[in-house]
Amino acid sequence: LYRKTVSTALPTFLLIGPSGGGKTALLTLAERKAVVPTHTSTSPLAIETQLPEDYTPSSAHYRSAGDPSYERARRLLLLDTPGHGKLRHYATKQLIESKNVRGIIFVVDAASVAEEVGLSEAAEYLHDVLLALQKRYTGAKTSKGPKEIPVLIAANKMDLFTALPPHLVEIQLEKAISEVRKNRAKGLKDSGVALGGEDEELEEEREWLGEGGEGSFKFRQMEEVGTGVIVKAGNVLGADGTDVKGWWEWVADQL
Ligand code: GTP
Ligand code: MG
Repeated sequence: LYRKTVSTALPTFLLIGPSGGGKTALLTLAERKAVVPTHTSTSPLAIETQLPEDYTPSSAHYRSAGDPSYERARRLLLLDTPGHGKLRHYATKQLIESKNVRGIIFVVDAASVAEEVGLSEAAEYLHDVLLALQKRYTGAKTSKGPKEIPVLIAANKMDLFTALPPHLVEIQLEKAISEVRKNRAKGLKDSGVALGGEDEELEEEREWLGEGGEGSFKFRQMEEVGTGVIVKAGNVLGADGTDVKGWWEWVADQL
């Protein structure tokens, strides 16, 4: 499944997000420094790569280029996962099992989240990823590896004129996640999954993303469970070339 040469001990960044967002396009750009046509993914794909030269890993600010430890600090693993609804277990599995996940890059098509269907699909997936991170954090006694995993929402396809600007991607996703959160809680109650008394409280606590209360969900709430969430715009493709600077800067900050 994975290429043999890949070293799994490297800091790993997971590419997660709905189908068609541009995860594989971004991975191939990182690997070949060129944009190549992609097909929808059916299995995960890992590549070993390096932080491009224009960026400095946060751990290496005081080291000079040429210093072996400086070069080592630039190495990373990018792990692409399929976005199709039936194949998301690959991403979930990585999230739960990998000791080396340093960050999650949630890639969304900023034009598709301008529409109802695209927005709710992205919000549902992102909700589940954030909930998994929250559970990982609160149940940290049993899980290995760093419990705090930051999330970059890569608002991709900014070259399209229908793309929402990043601050609107953020607002729309927060609103839609508020809806998902409400519906999930309601669904649990209706289906009788939560059994009365203390169990019910426990169950609800476990399943409710972010802070309690009926208010709206904000990405800020994830900081309480060790997950910083930030939205940055970019595009892998485009008539004026690619723009993935903001994303690499974020990766550099995590290294
Ligand atoms: P799954 O593998 O199905 O989960 O999708 P994915 O997220 O890997 O999407 P992929 O990288 O295959 O990209 C989907 C389509 O979007 C491809 O046709 C890409 O060429 C296109 N695409 C990716 N990035 C951009 C971008 O920045 N702008 C535009 N206009 N198209 C892009
Ligand atoms: Mg893909």
